[in-house]
Amino acid sequence: MALPESFLQELTARCDIYDIVSRYVKLKKSGSNYFGLCPFHNEKTPSFSVSRDKQIYHCFGCGAGGGVINFIMRMENMTFPEAVRHLAAQVGMEVPEDTGASYGEKRKRLIALCTESARFYVEKLYSPEGKGGLSYLLGRGLSPATLKHFGLGFAPDSWDSLIHAMTQKGFTKGEMLECGLVVQNKSGGVYDRFRNRVMFPIIDIQGRVIAFGGRVMDDSMPKYLNSSDTPVFQKSQNLFAMNFAKKSKGDFFLLAEGYMDVIALHQAGFQSAVASLGTSLTKEQARLMASRGKEQVIICYDSDEAGKKAAQRAIDLLTPTGLKVRVLRMSGAKDPDEYIRKNGPGAFRDLLEKSDSDIQYRLGEIAARFDLEETQDRVEFLQQAALLLCAIPSAVEREIFSRQAAEKAGVSPESMLEEVERQRKRRARQARVQQERQAMQPARAAQPAARDLRYDNVRSARREEGLVALLFSHGELLDRVSSRLQPEQFSSPFLGKIYELLLKRRQQGEETSLGLCMSLLSPEEGETLAKLVAKEPPVQNPQRALEDYLSVIEMEYIKKKNQTEEQDDAALLELAQRRLRRQQERGGM
Ligand code: GTP
Ligand code: MN
Repeated sequence: MALPESFLQELTARCDIYDIVSRYVKLKKSGSNYFGLCPFHNEKTPSFSVSRDKQIYHCFGCGAGGGVINFIMRMENMTFPEAVRHLAAQVGMEVPEDTGASYGEKRKRLIALCTESARFYVEKLYSPEGKGGLSYLLGRGLSPATLKHFGLGFAPDSWDSLIHAMTQKGFTKGEMLECGLVVQNKSGGVYDRFRNRVMFPIIDIQGRVIAFGGRVMDDSMPKYLNSSDTPVFQKSQNLFAMNFAKKSKGDFFLLAEGYMDVIALHQAGFQSAVASLGTSLTKEQARLMASRGKEQVIICYDSDEAGKKAAQRAIDLLTPTGLKVRVLRMSGAKDPDEYIRKNGPGAFRDLLEKSDSDIQYRLGEIAARFDLEETQDRVEFLQQAALLLCAIPSAVEREIFSRQAAEKAGVSPESMLEEVERQRKRRARQARVQQERQAMQPARAAQPAARDLRYDNVRSARREEGLVALLFSHGELLDRVSSRLQPEQFSSPFLGKIYELLLKRRQQGEETSLGLCMSLLSPEEGETLAKLVAKEPPVQNPQRALEDYLSVIEMEYIKKKNQTEEQDDAALLELAQRRLRRQQERGGM
């Protein structure tokens, strides 16, 4: 069964390894990973780890490891196709039965249909029919250049104008239905889904139109119609404007609630703004942001109660990915769009600089629950705040925030600090047992027993491992590497092969997740890859790490080449000498 890569990509993206594994193994969080008792060998202390960021599992005890498909294969004793089918059924995906090509073909057609539809809507915006739409968008403060940049359009007030246009382009009603562009009535007829709305094309991270949002131009309901999930679009997996934001400078993303906020932010020069697609943030979206090599997310949600709730939720989803989270507090405007229109980009930049860290934000939220004039409330605030603050690893930060909290509550900084340290000791005691267990693990991992990779050049191979792991966590670096490094320069053929795979898919405009890559390799190779990615510690400075890796790999390669050349020279010399000797022998006879 040759399954199309696009299908495997989507399957591995939808099957979160933590969710799947935790159906079989009781997992406990420790640091950024989860630990449990390995289901593949007998053990009493947990050495089985799951990394949610990397979407892999690895057992430091028996060496088993891989992605989610590999886990099911072992766990359920299934073949690859069986495991794929098993997982697909659980997340409601249909396994393409016939040939891989036809599935890929179909997706291509549907994306082409979305692209053509986007063109159609854009044309309409600038036609007489779209006059209302155009003046609505301009009236909301968007410039003509911004409209073009985001490909905004207009769906005419008609039941069948899109159907007509797309039929002329050779698309079928079935395809239009599959893309959610048309709706079927009871008698089986179809009509345009988006009518008399301004249209926002939804573009995936690779720059392809995959869906739409459409807004009414007055106060009627529903305000927005969004495409529902289709074979080419899952709203939980995409972020609006990520295609632009991924290229933005600076080390943060801005996360807003609405399309209009994002567009206004980009127009005001904040090109790192994204938004989820009409639902609250999902963990896949959090992961998507975390995988781009940026350090921070600044949440810029609406200033109302719903926005605050959503911000709390987003903090909880974003923090485990390792991203630093900050939260913007806005007053005098309901959302970033309105704020910028009232106060200008400069004022918004000031807000960004003043944005609270998630700790400050949470302290503020806890404080808001209490009447700090009351003694009893003050005590409870103190305890709850201490519970939050004791988890901060840095002593300096702990002290700073404790002082802030004390000031808020009108208690002495000493009593706040004392409470924080007390809670901290309690936590430490609880964590000690687990820490001791973990401390044993690196020693075991270093044992060479389970290594099936043999390296000719360990010095280079270590960096190759680091580089490969880095390319999975920071895919954006691939372009920089590709101009400098050829797969042949790898000392390890296995790692070179993985690098080649990444390059090839990149040339086709596709990104490669670790999960997908593993599903394209043999189970043994997948295991090896999982193992080496699992043992790479996260890098602090990806750019610098990259330079270090590249310089060693390049140097070792040059050395090796020189060596072979020297060997070649030596061989030539020997040949010449032998020939000479033979001539002499002949001459002597
Ligand atoms: P404006 O009101 O035009 O400023 O839009 P906005 O982008 O600020 O949207 P708002 O803050 O009201 O809502 C945030 C997001 O939620 C929108 O961008 C939509 O994705 C989604 N949304 C809002 N209203 C609806 C609705 O009626 N139906 C659906 N499905 N989604 C909606
Ligand atoms: Mn708005």
